[in-house]
Amino acid sequence: MIDGPFLWYLNRGTGFVILGLFTLTTVLGVLATGGRAGRGLPRFVTQAVHRNLALLSVVMLGAHVATAVLDSYVDIRWWQALVPYVGSTYLPLWLGLGTLALDLVLVVTVTSLLRTRMRHRAWRAVHVLAYAGWVAAVAHTLGIGTDIRTGASWAQLTVATCVGVVAATVALRLGRLALDRRTHPRRVVPVRSAS
Ligand code: HEM
Repeated sequence: MIDGPFLWYLNRGTGFVILGLFTLTTVLGVLATGGRAGRGLPRFVTQAVHRNLALLSVVMLGAHVATAVLDSYVDIRWWQALVPYVGSTYLPLWLGLGTLALDLVLVVTVTSLLRTRMRHRAWRAVHVLAYAGWVAAVAHTLGIGTDIRTGASWAQLTVATCVGVVAATVALRLGRLALDRRTHPRRVVPVRSAS
């Protein structure tokens, strides 16, 4: 266990880097499944960047968790970073949401690495949990972050931008889906009667 402000600064810095990476990954994921992946970019490019950003987020998450656990100023045990709400005393609600976000990120990442061995429906059902993970991460940031709680405007602006960008991308995607359904309604194949 180590004391001193260095780990604390590192924890806060990595937190914001992950939030940014996680947001970009989510936005690219939405664009990559949109059929017209950001008009100028081929879909395989969007998907490759999406995948690599996701893997980078996992590495940064390791640093974020390690700095929180090693810092003796707060009492956070390594298993509390993996299992939410098990005996944590430091801001348990908000820490638990960070843990939940981490678990969801891990499940989504592992199933994506095993994608070729899974049924597409099952993989997709797990993959949409990434949205819940992103929401949990934003709530964790708002509830536990020193910078947000002390009213640092750069921190508030960063979180507001992340929320705005994801909300706009999801709204755009839903709008396109609705438009596609209206212009290309699914054909209903008539069922032949037995007689
Ligand atoms: C996807 C998952 C996560 C994301 C995106 C994330 C992101 C962030 C962000 C942006 C902050 C705010 C920094 C600040 O304003 O000072 C923060 C703070 C913090 N996070 Fe996470 N985090 C995640 C998971 C975790 C996990 C699993 C732990 C458990 C060890 C954890 C422990 C902490 C602690 C202790 C702080 C408070 C630092 C302070 O005193 O300001 N985080 N996190």
